[in-house]
Amino acid sequence: MKQLSTKHLLGIKNLKKEDINLIFETADHFKEVINRPIKKVPSLRDITIANLFFENSTRTKLSFELAEKRLSADIINFSASQSSVKKGETLIDTVNNILSMKVDIVVMRHPNVGASVFLSKHVDAKIINAGDGAHEHPTQALLDSYSIREKLGTVKGKKIVIIGDILHSRVALSNIFALQLQGATVKVCGPTTLIPKYISSLGVQVETNLKKALDWCDVANVLRVQHERMDIKYFPSIREYTQLFGINKEILDSLGKKIVIMHPGPINRGVEITSNVADSDQSIILNQVENGVAIRMAVIYLLAQQIKK
Ligand code: CP
Repeated sequence: MKQLSTKHLLGIKNLKKEDINLIFETADHFKEVINRPIKKVPSLRDITIANLFFENSTRTKLSFELAEKRLSADIINFSASQSSVKKGETLIDTVNNILSMKVDIVVMRHPNVGASVFLSKHVDAKIINAGDGAHEHPTQALLDSYSIREKLGTVKGKKIVIIGDILHSRVALSNIFALQLQGATVKVCGPTTLIPKYISSLGVQVETNLKKALDWCDVANVLRVQHERMDIKYFPSIREYTQLFGINKEILDSLGKKIVIMHPGPINRGVEITSNVADSDQSIILNQVENGVAIRMAVIYLLAQQIKK
């Protein structure tokens, strides 16, 4: 059986193209499973998974939990806000206490960049990064590419623009790595204050004119402005941001072609995207969420195959 080249899923940067192909092939199988009347397989009956969320989440948390249940794994859920972290317990102490309950795989979201890498060096379990600060969100990028492949047949050769707050976005960085690995061309578009200085070193072009960016692309992945990661003002007002970088029906109708609209969520309707775009037939936002379960089943299943019992 084919195996992933990595022991953990810490970021897309650590993956090879063959890993992505293997994850997608495996997700194709699980997508078929979760559309059956009985949506469950017994594959991971001997595996225990801990979901550790030190930061808020709706999609990622629920999607991992459902993926684990569909694979018949035993799961425990940990939310930092209701835990002894509030009494001063460290990350390593918290995780080692959880691991002493015989946990095989840890899925972790954490506000600090590198938290998953740190954990992978200090504990004896498989680690899956469910988002670390503004660094990486690998399963989001995998489900995004998988959704493009499903909609357009392939990712190779496609032109993808990522629009919005690139500076604070782990989704942007993981998407750039994943899309380029599969042969897509990536541009970013947003206020210059929200585009990191290093972006050109990743082979990504910057386009500050939204209409030009949309005219160029096959797919627009629209991001939320991450106010919670900002300690200064990066643009004058939300109103001005929406005027310059908001995706609305008028601008899409002016393109003379139908591009695909994506958003990782959560959406701020009326800010970066209007409701009549988010809910339109050009949008694959809910397909992304559906595909998240199959992709996470694939990642968990493939990593679990490396565990010797
Ligand atoms: N896309 C995403 O990571 O959403 P959540 O923060 O709700 O998990």
